[in-house]
Amino acid sequence: MTAVSSPHQNSTTPNLEMPYHHKQSPRATAVVTSRSSFFSPKLSVYLCSICVTLFVVFHIQILQTPLPSSPNSLSFLHNWQEKLTTNDDSPSSCAPDLESMGDKLRESITFLPLKDLRFANAALVGHTWFMSSLYDTHEEGEVQYQQFPSKSSDGRILCIKGHDNHDGSWNYYALAYPGFLPKNATLVTGRTFVSYNHYDFSNIWHGLSSLFPFVAWHLKNQCALPNRWILYHWGEVRTGMSPWLNTLMEATFGGAMNIEKFDDGGHEQSTFCYEEAVVMRHNEGGMSRERRMEVYDLIRCKARMMCGAEVDRTDGDIGLTLLMRTGPRSFRNETAVVEIFERECEKVENCRFRVAYSSNLTICEQVKLMGLTDILVSPHGAQLTNIFLMDRNSSVMEFYPKGWLKLAGVGQFVYKWIASWSGMKYEGSWRDTDGKHCPYPDDDRRCMSIYKNGRIGYNSTYFREWTSKVLNEVKMRKFEEASKGSIITTKCGCS
Ligand SMILES: *[C@@H]1O[C@H](CO)[C@@H](O)[C@H](O)[C@H]1NC(C)=O
Ligand SMILES: *[C@@H]1O[C@H](CO)[C@@H](O)[C@H](O)[C@H]1NC(C)=O
Ligand SMILES: *[C@@H]1O[C@H](CO)[C@@H](O)[C@H](O)[C@H]1NC(C)=O
Ligand SMILES: *[C@@H]1O[C@H](CO)[C@@H](O)[C@H](O)[C@H]1NC(C)=O
Ligand SMILES: *[C@@H]1O[C@H](CO)[C@@H](O)[C@H](O)[C@H]1NC(C)=O
Repeated sequence: MTAVSSPHQNSTTPNLEMPYHHKQSPRATAVVTSRSSFFSPKLSVYLCSICVTLFVVFHIQILQTPLPSSPNSLSFLHNWQEKLTTNDDSPSSCAPDLESMGDKLRESITFLPLKDLRFANAALVGHTWFMSSLYDTHEEGEVQYQQFPSKSSDGRILCIKGHDNHDGSWNYYALAYPGFLPKNATLVTGRTFVSYNHYDFSNIWHGLSSLFPFVAWHLKNQCALPNRWILYHWGEVRTGMSPWLNTLMEATFGGAMNIEKFDDGGHEQSTFCYEEAVVMRHNEGGMSRERRMEVYDLIRCKARMMCGAEVDRTDGDIGLTLLMRTGPRSFRNETAVVEIFERECEKVENCRFRVAYSSNLTICEQVKLMGLTDILVSPHGAQLTNIFLMDRNSSVMEFYPKGWLKLAGVGQFVYKWIASWSGMKYEGSWRDTDGKHCPYPDDDRRCMSIYKNGRIGYNSTYFREWTSKVLNEVKMRKFEEASKGSIITTKCGCS
């Protein structure tokens, strides 16, 4: 289903002394050692070494002069490989040594742990501890990623020994030239998406933010599709994700998610080298609001198509939806809360009131419901991740139990951010001041465990005034949109 691009991409001169990455690492010494053993005292070998070295130096010199877009290390290496097999213009006695040099190149490939414990304290800061020796692309406003093979990988591809699902520091990665893969490595053809998540693929918003950049890459690269996915959480392999996320990704990429399971059985780690790999470890970081909105637009549009929901609203209603939770952070008196919002909705012409529990809606039911919602009223919680599935410019009203402002950290603002990133209007939040008593000072960490699972009360005066204001704004907006006339029908990107 994908067009596999040839690995013959621009890359620069090979660095035979350090066939691994550009950065010095402790293991580079091992590489040098193996190289010095190459100069064996035996004379015939020595002579052959000279001829091989001259051969290499000659090629390097040819390669050093031109611009990066001209002949590259790969063609050189392929050339070399050809010589190993056809053996035409090099003295035949040197063939075994060329071969042994190829072997040395294979053996000198250095595997590093996927999870670098040296960065354990700064895992979220720039230099992430996942594949810490490699850097991401940096293009203003664009998604950050790593791609292999590429110019920055010097044409090398990504190899992974990484089936461990308990400890990321037992999983490894390395870069290798396609012609000189590590011993016993399996070449995996096609395009592989490798995701690293600091949080969890089973949490819908954490999972979404880690897969989000792949959608951005897909848009940026003529809708190129993956053949498979590899998921790492803390560097540990994961073989599944929340069904909600799975469904939205299937909708977006137009097919089943092929998630690598690494079920090779044995305790020994097998090595897999990926013909083409795209690695994401910065979520949506670095992307401009415009780019983010395009990505949300695509997921929304594709999800609506897959679920058979209307891509463009035609009903003219103002949808006011209460999306409820059960358990922690649910409303303490739902009847009272429902009554307030229902009554305000009744006062506005064409207002359509709905109450739903995210826990008993299928994913497509959620997609359809959001498509009919202009104002989403919901407590703080993962179900709010659905907000981007509303039409652009729709409104969000969020509710918190007591104690969250001081103690819950920046994570409490995520739905405000998602609203902004996806082009929605965050209408503010209401924070309950009533709730369980905490015996410690208000900003004591211990209070969070008391407040965390609190439930949410209501202030009918405040709720009524607030809802009425938001309803009026939405009514005006819809009126203006309608007066502009013709609805331009949406065409999903990448279809
Ligand atoms: C490669 O595989 C063979 C056969 O499975 C095994 O005997 C050998 O030890 C392996 N070599 C390496 C370097 O893993
Ligand atoms: C919930 O609110 C309703 C309506 O205001 C009220 O009649 C009912 O007594 C309340 N229930 C509880 C358990 O407080
Ligand atoms: C949805 O879930 C809530 C709470 O879990 C339950 O009270 C309600 O009956 C359910 N609604 C439907 C339509 O199944
Ligand atoms: C959303 O609102 C902005 C600002 O009012 C407007 O420019 C834009 O066209 C609206 N977008 C959609 C999709 O209605
Ligand atoms: C409820 O909201 C109103 C309007 O904002 C405010 O005046 C009042 O003090 C609030 N009541 C409580 C108990 O917080």
